[in-house]
Amino acid sequence: MSAGAVGRAYPRLEGREKVTGTARYAVEYPVDGVTYGWAVPSAVVRGRITRVDPAQALASPGVLAVVHHGNAPRLAPGPEPDLWLLQEPTVHYRGQFIAVVVATSLEAAREGARLVRIDYDAGPHSTVLTDDHPGLYKPDHINPSYPTDTAEGDFDAGYAAAPVRVDVTYRTPAYHNNPMEPHATTAQWHDGRLLVHDSNQGASSVRATLAELFELPRESVRVVTQHVGGGFGSKGYAKAAVVLAALAARHVDRPVRLALTRQQLFGPIGYRTPTIQRVRLAADADGRLTAICHDAISQTSTMREFAEQTAVYTRSMYAAPHRRTTHRLVRLDVPTPFWMRAPGECPGAYALESAMDELAVAVGIDPVELRIRNDTEVDPDQGRPFTSRNLVACLREGAQRFGWADRDPAPRSRRDGHWLVGSGVAGSSYPARARPCSATATARPDGSFLVRINVTDIGTGARTAMWQVAADALGVPPERVAISIGDSDLPTAPVAGGSMGTASWSWAVIRACQALRGKLPEGGSPDRDVSAEADTSDEVGGQPTLPRYAYGAQFAEVRVDATTGEVRLNRMLGVFAAGQVVNPTTARSQLIGGMTMGLSMALHEEGVLDERYGDWVNHDLATYHITGCADVESIEAYWLDERDGELNPAGVKGIGEIGIVGAAAAIANAVHHATGVRIRDLPIRLDKLV
Ligand code: MOS
Repeated sequence: MSAGAVGRAYPRLEGREKVTGTARYAVEYPVDGVTYGWAVPSAVVRGRITRVDPAQALASPGVLAVVHHGNAPRLAPGPEPDLWLLQEPTVHYRGQFIAVVVATSLEAAREGARLVRIDYDAGPHSTVLTDDHPGLYKPDHINPSYPTDTAEGDFDAGYAAAPVRVDVTYRTPAYHNNPMEPHATTAQWHDGRLLVHDSNQGASSVRATLAELFELPRESVRVVTQHVGGGFGSKGYAKAAVVLAALAARHVDRPVRLALTRQQLFGPIGYRTPTIQRVRLAADADGRLTAICHDAISQTSTMREFAEQTAVYTRSMYAAPHRRTTHRLVRLDVPTPFWMRAPGECPGAYALESAMDELAVAVGIDPVELRIRNDTEVDPDQGRPFTSRNLVACLREGAQRFGWADRDPAPRSRRDGHWLVGSGVAGSSYPARARPCSATATARPDGSFLVRINVTDIGTGARTAMWQVAADALGVPPERVAISIGDSDLPTAPVAGGSMGTASWSWAVIRACQALRGKLPEGGSPDRDVSAEADTSDEVGGQPTLPRYAYGAQFAEVRVDATTGEVRLNRMLGVFAAGQVVNPTTARSQLIGGMTMGLSMALHEEGVLDERYGDWVNHDLATYHITGCADVESIEAYWLDERDGELNPAGVKGIGEIGIVGAAAAIANAVHHATGVRIRDLPIRLDKLV
């Protein structure tokens, strides 16, 4: 690898298409005879549909069909009950899609949806998470397959014996994934084969799920995912929109376009579960941790178990002889929670990194120094050395860049007119993983190359990053390389998720390119197309299990109006150690994007649930506040030059999620430093401060 494309700030290959509006998203492909679907949500929380009366809707101009449990094509009852849509009259949560109206125009479909009459038998419901809910139980494992609880040493004894103790409980509300592009699909059936243009984070996995639901061989399903306007985890799996569109298209025997509305994203696509987290920390007089306990409570639905791995962050971040983590869950009459940027690590780090700040105050040690003192080269969870751990380097470089040394540790010690000013810090970490992947590389007689791989670019710049990786692996300038992605007919690749896309995909790209080079004449081009393929299943599967993590340090400075309690972010700065950075432009966007989402979590976002309706009352971007440009005055991301030979051929750790981890804690800690008030339930709003 010598051409040197990796590490250079290339603009996105599709950037021009995107800003000129020619990049096609899922419902923007021209399709002959296309019709429009509009999803109909349930109006009750829990119960049964007793009658669907489509007469008025069907009489409305342009309406072709009302598809519901009484007439919908049948689906195989698979392992994903959430996707078993329009199959039975049962309602599991308010907003569950119970019908689709298909019409010749979008407007006609929407009007038809308004005219469908549905009667229900509604029962009582429970939708509010509490720490004393009678339904609390211990799941068998947590997402994706971690043990539910862990224990080492004797936490209770260690905690009782320590001179300094912190026992605090943090609460986070439901957070809703709000990608710019909603979940959207165009579905077409041709001779028993299903073609969908769909907005998702992994076309290979969506194809597998559709094949299973519709009982088709995988070769009979094609999922095209060229451009995606974000997902934040919510599109990491096939979801309602693609299933509804495929059902409706089969029912009317015409192509159907179906995009969820902004309002329909608040629930049915998944969301970050609310959490209740009790953290207990004990330390000696020098601030060395002796006991750590993190007890996490979250919710799932009555359809399916999703157990957020909230306390896994605490298992590996800091060491102590006595440690315990637990997870408890309750099944509520709610939509199933799902992935949202750093599921587990994000809410868990908010709690642990806030508690570390409370410990720093209790023991009288600077919070950067407290973290440095509790650094560990050995993973407390696995008991083996980390492949690389540059938390301390991130903290030191961040402190220096941020100007931390001048900080007076006393709360309320800085004023700027009517503003109270404070600063805070938090650690950050995210696992560096990889999944099996396949790719092919082709050399052509004209000296050009084509790499084919079903990568999904959800806006991250993945297409460009893989093109750079391929050029270096082929040893040619990137201008000679073309890359084809976003289609399930291409070699199978794992989802853009878990911060493991770049690691997994580049592994297969590099192996395919290496294999191709072995087939080519020395220094020349072949006289016909020559291809090579790679499948990394054996290599990835055979990799030793080692603790591999990216690290970061998050710094924030806030100002709080001394009279009104209004909180503003002055500046935020993060330093990360994430292995090789493939493209500095797109990497920086991922990191500051994650940090901005952490700001949003700390100060703005909150799903407000009304138990009378059993649903969130804020179902749009007017009432569900997301950080906007005016909320971000200065935000900077830096990274260390980190080489770790135990990762993958490209040496990358992944950067999609680490930016959000710890960000909310740094801001909450800064608010405490500014005001002397510790808010332990997010978001930090002015009414909680005054
Ligand atoms: Mo991300 S929540 O792993 O798609």
